[in-house]
Amino acid sequence: MKLISTFLSIAVLTTAAFASPFDPRTYLQSRAGRILETRAEDISPPAEYSNTLIQQRADPHILKHSDGFYYFTASVPAYDQVILRRSETIEGLRNAPETVVYQRNATSGPGSGYLWAPEIHYIDGKWYIYVASEINGRGSWAIRPIVFEGTGENPLTATWVDKGVIDTGINDFSLDMTYFEVNGVRYLSWAQTDPSFGSGTGLFIARWTNPWTVELPAVGISYPTLAWERIGHNVNEGAYVIVRNGKVFLTYSASATDHNYVVGLLTADETADLTDPNVWVKAQEPVFRSYEPTENWGPGHNCFTVSEDGLSDVFAYHSRGYKDIVGEPLNNPDRRTRVQKLYWRNDGTPDFGVPVAEGLTPVRLRTAGGDAQYLTNEGDATNIILGSDVPVEQTLFRIINPGLIGQGSVSLESANLPGHFISNQCGNAVLVEDNGSEKFKQAASFEQVVGLGDADGVSFKAGDEYLVVSLDGLVIIGPADDEAAATFFTE
Ligand code: AHR
Repeated sequence: MKLISTFLSIAVLTTAAFASPFDPRTYLQSRAGRILETRAEDISPPAEYSNTLIQQRADPHILKHSDGFYYFTASVPAYDQVILRRSETIEGLRNAPETVVYQRNATSGPGSGYLWAPEIHYIDGKWYIYVASEINGRGSWAIRPIVFEGTGENPLTATWVDKGVIDTGINDFSLDMTYFEVNGVRYLSWAQTDPSFGSGTGLFIARWTNPWTVELPAVGISYPTLAWERIGHNVNEGAYVIVRNGKVFLTYSASATDHNYVVGLLTADETADLTDPNVWVKAQEPVFRSYEPTENWGPGHNCFTVSEDGLSDVFAYHSRGYKDIVGEPLNNPDRRTRVQKLYWRNDGTPDFGVPVAEGLTPVRLRTAGGDAQYLTNEGDATNIILGSDVPVEQTLFRIINPGLIGQGSVSLESANLPGHFISNQCGNAVLVEDNGSEKFKQAASFEQVVGLGDADGVSFKAGDEYLVVSLDGLVIIGPADDEAAATFFTE
């Protein structure tokens, strides 16, 4: 094993010299200064944030720009202005001051219509904000995509010019325009009523000719045909793209913007003609939906960005912290911006998991060893096991610090079963619901120390024993005879 791992080390070292800046192997080199025999090639460090990020900001768009700043925009409750925030970190967006770059020109009558779901992009040296807006004073629902062009290094102080309505080929309700590039080809995608489909909105795509022009005719690539897309309203909207693993993943949101709002997924090969509707494959079930255990309802209209170190994909979305709404959901102001890391399955597809709880985001605990094995829960009062390619939410644990017995301790709380912790039950690591007893607190508290088998990992100490993977693959609390078996890497 040693020889093989040494060989791999040399291979990784050689590869790392020519790797892309985001190659995790390069990351391992730079961080560890030496080959970590126990980390596979596709590892990525944790991307930890605290939710909720920003209250009363729906349809969030976060752009990480080449200047190192994150730029944030979103729908505001009154839908009457386009705002921007900027920060060097995602967390910094929380309290960053807002600049109004466009204010609706009326509070009633013509020009008082909605401003919905702005996105900010940087294209060929200029800033562009795409936003859905009432047009020609024809009232709130006469919504069309318009684009503003900004000149200046910092979009918060740029000079903005309204470049007008984008002709989508169908002069009717259209919104949620997003810009993306794949293999150098530029596209716009948006939500659009389509008389040929009937009531509701479908997703359209067209090649981008310039910031305010698309190649017509545009093509409808998805319509709300499945039951979960047709609750309250027939909706496909809020498209956003991430390109990974040779695929184009286009997320969108469906149904009314209440607790029935969900995220769907279209997938195409990166080399396909994306304006051919036949190249897109629709997931038959939502990939992200309301989740009562963490009190997140109607999650959707997500975007993608990357973590501060560039090594993790992150998605931002909105949700509400309560299920029942009085009246029209669009008039409810409490869709808030949240962020969490996006994980990837072994087959290269994204695993969105569940909307995580308020507070610190959870991490995966990867065991030492070449293959990707993670501490995994299978439900209340069940033994913690080792899982690989299981639903990511079963492998996510929030490291509560201080832990249940106070300073100097940590506790490991399940992300999909809040209030349930990894606890020592007669030497077995078991997921148990907190019953508030002192005995439980002791059993579910550990001392987090530097990884016994690798300084880049962590170990969890309980007295003179550790959370450890036994020789027969069980997760126990016992002696760390094999230090690597008591070492875990947070992802
Ligand atoms: O938030 C306003 C609108 O609500 C967005 O444009 C759309 O995605 C959602 O339905």
